[in-house]
Amino acid sequence: MKAIILAGGSGTRLYPVTIATNKHFLPIYNKPMIYYPLSLVMLMGIKDILFIVNPEDLKDFKKLFKDGSHLGMNIQYKIQEKPNGLAEGLILAEDFIGNDNILYMLGDNVFFGHDLIKIMQSAREDIEKNGGAYVFGYSVKDPERFGVVEFDENGNVVSLEEKPEKPKSNYAVVGMYFYDNEAVRIAKNVKPSDRGELEITSVNEEYLRKGKLKVKLLGRGFAWFDAGTHDSFLEAGEFVATIENKTGLMIGCIEEIAYKNGWITKEQLLELAKPLRKTEYGKYLIEVAKGESNAI
Ligand code: G1P
Repeated sequence: MKAIILAGGSGTRLYPVTIATNKHFLPIYNKPMIYYPLSLVMLMGIKDILFIVNPEDLKDFKKLFKDGSHLGMNIQYKIQEKPNGLAEGLILAEDFIGNDNILYMLGDNVFFGHDLIKIMQSAREDIEKNGGAYVFGYSVKDPERFGVVEFDENGNVVSLEEKPEKPKSNYAVVGMYFYDNEAVRIAKNVKPSDRGELEITSVNEEYLRKGKLKVKLLGRGFAWFDAGTHDSFLEAGEFVATIENKTGLMIGCIEEIAYKNGWITKEQLLELAKPLRKTEYGKYLIEVAKGESNAI
């Protein structure tokens, strides 16, 4: 399985903050927003990642992640010329995807929860064995902001709608999608929505029509933030700060994960920590390298 992280878009819902900078570089507490989805991909053990980025941001993404080799990974980039929608990302990634299955993540989504990786791994296994698509629903107070999934009384998915005025449930579809290789072909047939975008919801609807869509609900034990508005951005940062300061463990620390995955050595980790040593982040990396962190 390969992973694609969509990190383009205009970020207009965060204006004026994002007039001069891409939202994915903004800090969710102590690290750039984009570290959070990237860290989940890494925790899945996936080393091949494509970032889809705006033309003007490519240089900065390369400054942050280079070719990924310092983390023991293979990171590539693809430019999305205009914010034409999430489904376009799949089309742009066609060559990168080749014959593989896909984990598609949105760069502004922050997740936290016990056994999240186990749940993701079982979705991956399901897709690798049976094909189709696997998405996740999460109860929210403001479903009209999202893709919304409707269930019947037996828990079967009845419909999916993108930003409905009158949502048929409170379950938002979160920005983490597992697809078989068909997704590219399906995305190519998607027609632009009223807001002029190729919607990822249209891709999911096609899987639903074919009876190939699975939706799993992430229950109360999970936190999910779409950090694309001022309030959710702030909430995500406060949440991360609270958990990290309580536990002494970091969320979304990509260098730590690379080290624990065995992708980089202790010496390489200490080298990565050097320029960060004046920060708590850098000090944490040094603790991890010395085995002094209580991380498991
Ligand atoms: C996108 C998707 C939507 C999904 C959301 C999750 O919305 O279109 O279906 O629920 O991400 O973050 P957007 O952020 O593009 O408005």
